[in-house]
Amino acid sequence: MTFESRLKEYVQGIEDFLADYFQSTSCTGQSRIVEAMLYSIMAGGKRIRPVLVMEFCRLSCGNWEKARPFAAALEMIHTYSLIHDDLPCMDNDDMRRGKPTNHKVYGEAMAILSGDALLTQAFELASNPKHIEGIPAEAALCAIHDLARESGILGMIGGQVLDLDAENKTLDYSDLIQLQQMKTGALMRTAAHMGCIIGQASAKQLAAADRYTSSLGLAFQIQDDILDIEGDVQELGKPIGSDVENGKSTFPMLLGLLACREKVRQLTDEAIDSVRQAFTDPWFLVELAESLVNRRN
Ligand code: IPE
Ligand code: IPE
Ligand code: MG
Ligand code: MG
Ligand code: MG
Repeated sequence: MTFESRLKEYVQGIEDFLADYFQSTSCTGQSRIVEAMLYSIMAGGKRIRPVLVMEFCRLSCGNWEKARPFAAALEMIHTYSLIHDDLPCMDNDDMRRGKPTNHKVYGEAMAILSGDALLTQAFELASNPKHIEGIPAEAALCAIHDLARESGILGMIGGQVLDLDAENKTLDYSDLIQLQQMKTGALMRTAAHMGCIIGQASAKQLAAADRYTSSLGLAFQIQDDILDIEGDVQELGKPIGSDVENGKSTFPMLLGLLACREKVRQLTDEAIDSVRQAFTDPWFLVELAESLVNRRN
């Protein structure tokens, strides 16, 4: 199997799962909110986080399909974070995933509610016995707890707060690392954790998966900051120049573009080393990390 075909299989797997989930949950009276949620979640996106959940599950137990509810829940939380991140009171961006942002189409109130709804439904999905049949209750609970922790004030939301606090300030390197490890790294890490928990990976594999996604998450955010400067709007599907406009503290601001590119390379090598040491069949994770080094979207 090639990298591209496995990636395609995972992306299709998660998109089918999400489509089925929304079809089975929508009923009269909810059509507007479901439309707004679907607008953002079915708009594409790279699906990196769900792909990580499924691949770590496959590496641990051979079967990736049983991780799909958790992968879908994580993509719902990621999408909610983007809807809220784009609001006028946050980054005030007008384009996401190649389309007008949620609040531009549905208004701010609906955008807030559709983000809230994606967050809430994520936990409905991940804890619904109908979807997680066959997964030991203790493993499911452990995965749900990890997802909640990494999405909350110690993870993604905490990072978004630091990101807002850092506007128009110059952070030092370690504070910026801390911010980005929370803002972006946390959801990447829970992807690895959940995949390993559902697949019942060993403690050594879980630790390696955590190191892989910590390095990958940081490299991913540095590349995101680079693309905000030198990306192409059409390819990226979101505006460029948003960080400068908002006075954000970013890696290029602190280190310059050249050092950022070197850092992405170094972090990617570190990520790859971590999984090579703990998994016998890590080729997909190696190629995934490599494919993100020069990503254009
Ligand atoms: C964007 O995430 C926000 C960051 C954490 C940098 P992605 O680049 O994964 O966005 P999608 O899901 O592909 O749209
Ligand atoms: C947002 O980071 C990360 C989230 C937790 C949503 P950015 O603000 O840099 O993400 P983009 O560039 O808008 O996708
Ligand atoms: Mg932001
Ligand atoms: Mg933003
Ligand atoms: Mg950005």
